[in-house]
Amino acid sequence: MTQIAERMNSIPFSGIRAILERVKRMEQAGTPIIHLEIGCPDFDTPEYIKTAAHRALDEGQVYYTSNYGIPPLREAIANKLKRDNQLEFDPQTEIIVTAGVSEGILATMMALLNPGDEVLVPEPLFPAYLMAARMAGAVPVAVPVHASNEYQPVRADLEARLNSKTRMLVVVTPGNPTGVVLSEATLKGMAEFAIDHDLLVMADEIYEKLIYEDREHICIARFPGMRSRTITLNGFSKSHAMTGWRLGYIAADAALVQALVRIHQYSVVCSNSIAQWAGVVALEGSQQSVHAMVEELDRRRMLVIDKLQQIPGLTFPRPQGAMYVYVDVSGVANDAYELTDYLLEQAHLAVVPWNKQHIRLAYSNSYDNLELALDRMKQSLSTMPASR
Ligand SMILES: Cc1ncc(COP(=O)(O)O)c(C=O)c1O
Repeated sequence: MTQIAERMNSIPFSGIRAILERVKRMEQAGTPIIHLEIGCPDFDTPEYIKTAAHRALDEGQVYYTSNYGIPPLREAIANKLKRDNQLEFDPQTEIIVTAGVSEGILATMMALLNPGDEVLVPEPLFPAYLMAARMAGAVPVAVPVHASNEYQPVRADLEARLNSKTRMLVVVTPGNPTGVVLSEATLKGMAEFAIDHDLLVMADEIYEKLIYEDREHICIARFPGMRSRTITLNGFSKSHAMTGWRLGYIAADAALVQALVRIHQYSVVCSNSIAQWAGVVALEGSQQSVHAMVEELDRRRMLVIDKLQQIPGLTFPRPQGAMYVYVDVSGVANDAYELTDYLLEQAHLAVVPWNKQHIRLAYSNSYDNLELALDRMKQSLSTMPASR
C-alpha cells in the first residue's frame, strides 16, 4: 500500500506552480497565453556570468565543494554584505552558500525551530514560509498587514499573536506579493519587538536589488542588537536573472550557522559548484546589467501602474520593489479565484489568485506584452457577467 507522511496533509502543491501547469496545457493545445503569474525575470543571465560558468567547467570545477561553499564566493558575499549593507560577517564561519533562498528558508526553520514553536509571518505572504515551518513541525502564525497602513506591519498586530511559544519572526523586504518596501521606522519597530521578546528573525532579502523610486533597502540585521538573532537570506535568482542556477546564501552569527550548516550538509551537501564560480563573478563584476534590468523593470512597473489605474474597481499598493502588483479585485468580482479563471479563459491572461480578494500580477514580461495584457484585462472586465 502506498502511504505518504501525515505532515504532507498540510503541505499542498504550490498554487502558483498549479496555475503554471494549467497554462502549459492550454498552450500545448494551441492557445497562446500572456504570462503575468510567475515571478521569474524574463532577462537572460548576463554574458559575463555565463562565461565564468563555462570557464569553471573547462577548469574541471565539477566536484563537491566545502559544505559552506567555495571560499572565494564566501569572501565575495562577505564583501558584498559589507559594501552594500554595512554588515560584517566572517566568511569562514558565518556564511553558507545555498541552493537558492528556498533552501535557506527550509534550513532556517529546520535548524532553529522545535516542534510546536510558533513563527510570526506577516500576511499576505510568500507560501514557502508556511510550508517550511510546517515541514519543521513548527506552527506558522499569519499576522495580517493592512492596506490602510500601506502594508507595513504594525507592532500591535504582532503583539496580538504573540505567546510563550513564539520563537521567530519573518521579515520580507521588498515584499512578495505586495511589492512594498518596509520603511526604516517599520523595520526598527520589528527589530525592537524581536529584541523585547527574544525572537529570532528570518529576513528574506531576495528582492534587495529590485527597488525603485530612490527607495533604500535596509537590512534588519543592521539595527542594534539584531545581528546575533537575524538570519539574512539572499541570492542571485532575481538580482542577476539566475533562477535556474539555484544559488543563494545565508548570513548569520556563527552560533546559528553551526546548526544551519548541518541541515545543508545532510540535504544538499553543497550548492552547484559551477554556479558557485559564476556567483563570484556575478558579485564582483560590473553591476551594469543589474542596473539595466532594474531600469527596464521600472519602466514596466510604471506602465502597469498607469494601466491598472485606468481600470475601474481595482485598487493596489504602489509597488516600490520586487516585480509584482497586489491587486484588490473586490470592486469587480466576488471571488478572485473565479476571476482568475475568467481572465485565463476569456483574455488568455495568467495571473495568480492570492486569496479571495486579491490577485498578483508579475511584470516580468516584455513591455509590449504587458501593454497588450492590461488592455485585454480592461476589455474583458468591462464585459464580464455580474456573477463573478
Ligand atoms: C520572497 C521570495 N523568497 C524566496 C524566493 C525563492 O528564491 P530562490 O530562487 O533563491 O530559491 C522567491 C521566489 O519567487 C520569493 O519571491
